Amino acid sequence: MKTLIHNIGILAGILPSGKEKLAGEEMRSIQTLRHAWLLIEDGLIKDFGDGAPVPADGEYTSIDAQGGIVMPCYCDPHTHIVYAGSREQEFEDKIRGLSYEEIARRGGGILNSADRLHEQTEEELFLQAQQRLNEMRAGGTGSVEIKSGYGLNTADEIKMLRVIRRLRETSALEIRSTFLGAHAVGRAYQGRQSEYVDLVINEMIPEVGRLGLADFIDVFCDEDFFTPEETARILKAGARYGLRPKIHAEELAASGGIAVAVEHNALSVDHLERMPDSAIPLLQQSDVMPTLLPGTSFFLNMPYAPARKLIDAGLPVALATDWNPGSTPSGSMKFILSLACIKQRLLPEEAINAATINAAYAMGLSQTHGSITRGKRAALQLIDAPSLAYLPYAYTSNPIREVIL
Ligand code: NIG
Ligand code: FE
Repeated sequence: MKTLIHNIGILAGILPSGKEKLAGEEMRSIQTLRHAWLLIEDGLIKDFGDGAPVPADGEYTSIDAQGGIVMPCYCDPHTHIVYAGSREQEFEDKIRGLSYEEIARRGGGILNSADRLHEQTEEELFLQAQQRLNEMRAGGTGSVEIKSGYGLNTADEIKMLRVIRRLRETSALEIRSTFLGAHAVGRAYQGRQSEYVDLVINEMIPEVGRLGLADFIDVFCDEDFFTPEETARILKAGARYGLRPKIHAEELAASGGIAVAVEHNALSVDHLERMPDSAIPLLQQSDVMPTLLPGTSFFLNMPYAPARKLIDAGLPVALATDWNPGSTPSGSMKFILSLACIKQRLLPEEAINAATINAAYAMGLSQTHGSITRGKRAALQLIDAPSLAYLPYAYTSNPIREVIL
C-alpha cells in the first residue's frame, strides 16, 4: 500500500539515518524542505523530496497537504495513563495550600489512585486508558511509554501491565511498557518500606520478567519515596530480566537519582526539577537522556528543570507529558512545547527536537521513530500553521489537520 503526500509547504524534522539523538547546539536546528512531497509504502517513509513528486508506480492514495507542514508525530516517553478515575479533590486541596508531599503523607496521592485501581477490572482500566490514548493521538502523539505503579501489590501491578499490553496490541500508536512497582510503598506495607522493596525484588520483578510484560524498569527515587540505595538494588534485580532503567529522580529534592541512573546505564532519567548543577558532569559522561516534564512544574507550581543549562552544557534533552492523575492530568505534547519555550527558555526548534527524536531515544525508539528518515515508520502529523514556531506560540490552538500512523 502506497500513499503520496504532495503539496507540502514545509517538510520538517529530516534527519540522516543512524542519528539517534541531538545534543547541545545541534538541537537548535531542524532540517526542512519547502514545496515537498513524501511517499509512504507499507507504513514506512519510502522517499521524499522537493519540487514535483516523482509519481509512485502502481496504485496509490494521494493526500494534498495544501501547503501545510508535515512533521514527525511527537513521542511521549513518560506517562502513567493507566489509572482509575481522577483526583480533582486533591487539585482543590492544593489550591487551598497543601503541598504534593503533604497530600501524599495523608494517604492521598499515589495511594489514593492505587485504592481505586484495585477496585477496577482490566476491562474498565483498558477503556479509560484507550480514551486517553485517542486524545493523545488527536494531539499529534504517535508513540507513548506507559508505566505501571498504581498497583503496588503483585496482582495489581500485573493487572496494569496486562492493560498496557492490550493497548499495545490494539492501538495504532507505538507503545512501550515500564514496570514501576517502586512508585510508593503499598498500603499493606506502610511503615515497612524495606519489606516492600524486598517484595518488589523477590516477587514482582521475577513475575513481570517471567511474563515478559515490561520493556523497562522505573523507581521513584526521591525524598519520602525510595532512596538511591533501594533504587540501586531494584535496578540490579531488573537487569537480571533485561529491564533497562528509566527512573524518576530529583523532582522533590536533590535525591542523588542522577548518579544511580548513570551508574546503572539508564535509558533516561526523568523530572530533574531540583537537580544540582554538580550532576551535570555525571550526565556528560553518560548516554542517559535527561527527560523533562514541565507539565508537572506547571500543575504543581514547582520549579522547572534547568533545561537551558543542560543544553548549554552540550547535553541532549527530551520532553514528555508525565500524564498522570496527580501531578499532570494532561497528555498534550504541544502544550509541553509551549511550557518548554516559555518557562524553560528553549527555542521552538530545541523543544520540537526534544519532543520528537530525543523523546524517541528516551523510549528506545529512535531507530524507527522521531524523524523524517527513509525507512522509519510513517508516524506523521499534517498541520495548518505558517511556521514551526507557531506550534508553541499559539499555545491553546490545535492546528492539526490529520495524524497519519
Ligand atoms: O511522575 N513523581 C511520581 N509520580 C508521578 C505522580 C503520580 C501521582 O501523583 O499519581 C509523577 O509526577
Ligand atoms: Fe512520572
